[in-house]
Amino acid sequence: MMNHKNEEGRMPDENQVNVSSAQFEVIKSMEGFVDENLGSLLRPVGESWQPSDFLPDMTAEDWREQVSLFRERAGALTDEILVVLVGDMITEEALPSYQTWLNRMKGIQDPTGTSDSPWARWSRGWTAEENRHGDLLNKYLYLTGRVDMRAIETTIHHLINNGFNTQTGDDPYLGFIYTSFQERATKISHRNVGVMAKRAGEEHLHKICGLIAGDEARHEKAYKLFMSKIFELDTARAVLSFARMMKLKIVMPALLMHDGKDESIFTKFSAVAQKVGVYTARDYAEIIEALVQDWKIAALQGLSDAAARAQEYLCGLSHRYMKLAERVSFSGSVKFSWIYDREIALLGDPGKVST
Ligand SMILES: [Fe+2]
Ligand SMILES: [Fe+2]
Repeated sequence: MMNHKNEEGRMPDENQVNVSSAQFEVIKSMEGFVDENLGSLLRPVGESWQPSDFLPDMTAEDWREQVSLFRERAGALTDEILVVLVGDMITEEALPSYQTWLNRMKGIQDPTGTSDSPWARWSRGWTAEENRHGDLLNKYLYLTGRVDMRAIETTIHHLINNGFNTQTGDDPYLGFIYTSFQERATKISHRNVGVMAKRAGEEHLHKICGLIAGDEARHEKAYKLFMSKIFELDTARAVLSFARMMKLKIVMPALLMHDGKDESIFTKFSAVAQKVGVYTARDYAEIIEALVQDWKIAALQGLSDAAARAQEYLCGLSHRYMKLAERVSFSGSVKFSWIYDREIALLGDPGKVST
C-alpha cells in the first residue's frame, strides 16, 4: 500500500495534469490571504531552533565529554529505531527535489528567486524551515557512530538523482492536497520515532523528533488552510481534485531511494516502518479521514453530479483503506546496508506506537 508505483513498477514519466486558467486565477486571487497568514504559518528566523542547539558543542573545552555522553545515550537505540530514523532522515535530505516541485506549480513560482510575492515567500520560508530537519538528523546519526554513513549518503545521492514524481503535474490544487497529506504523514512518523526513542531510554532523540514533528504540524496546518480557501473559492474543482489525488495515491517522497545494491530498499524500509508502527497502512487511512473531516467534505452542497460522486467516493474512502490495512501482515526478515547488513525480523502484524 505504501509503495505506489504503477503496474509496470515505475512512476509514469509524463504527467497528464495541466492546470486550467480558472485555477490559476484562483491561486493568484489568494495572494492577499496568504500574505495575511504567513506571519503565523512561518516562524521568524531569530526565534527558530537550529540544529546546533541539539548537538555537542565542538568548540567547547569539554567537547570530548559532550560527544561521549551523546554517544552513550544513542547506544540505547535498537536497530529498528535506527532504520526508521535513517529512512526519515533520507526523506528529509531530498529537500532539493521538493523545492523544485513546489516551484513548478502554476501560480506558486518564484520567478526571480527573490520574489516578494506571498507564494514565493511561503515556498522559500517552508524550504528554509525544512532544511534544518535533514541537517539535524544527519548530524545526529553521524555522531552516534552506529550507522554506515557512506551507505546512507549514497542512498540520498541516488534519491535526489532519481527524483520525485507526485503525479500532480503543475497543478497547485493537487499539490496542496498532496502536501497536506504528506506533512501530516511526516508529523506522525517523526512523532512515533520520538516515542520509540523515549521508550528505549534516549530522551534527547525524543526531544529532537518532537521539535521536527512540531514543524511538520505547522506546515500541515498551512497547506490545509490554503486548501480550505480553495474549497471556499472553487468548491467543485477542489473536491474533484481531492478525489483525483486519492485515486492517484500519495506517493511516498523517498520512493526512488536506492543504496546502489538493494533494489527493494524502499519497500523494506516501508515494511519496517509498518512493523514497528511508525507509519502504517492504518495511518494512511486515518489521514484520509482527517482531511475529509477538516475540509468538511460531507457537508458540501450544491455540487454538480461529477463533484457529488467525488464527494461520495471521498466520504467512504477511509473505511475502504482501513479494511485493507487489517489484512497487512509480515514475515521473514530484512537487512539494510545502513546498519552494516544486520537483520531485522518482520514477523507478525503491523505495530502501533501509542502516544
Ligand atoms: Fe521535514
Ligand atoms: Fe515537512
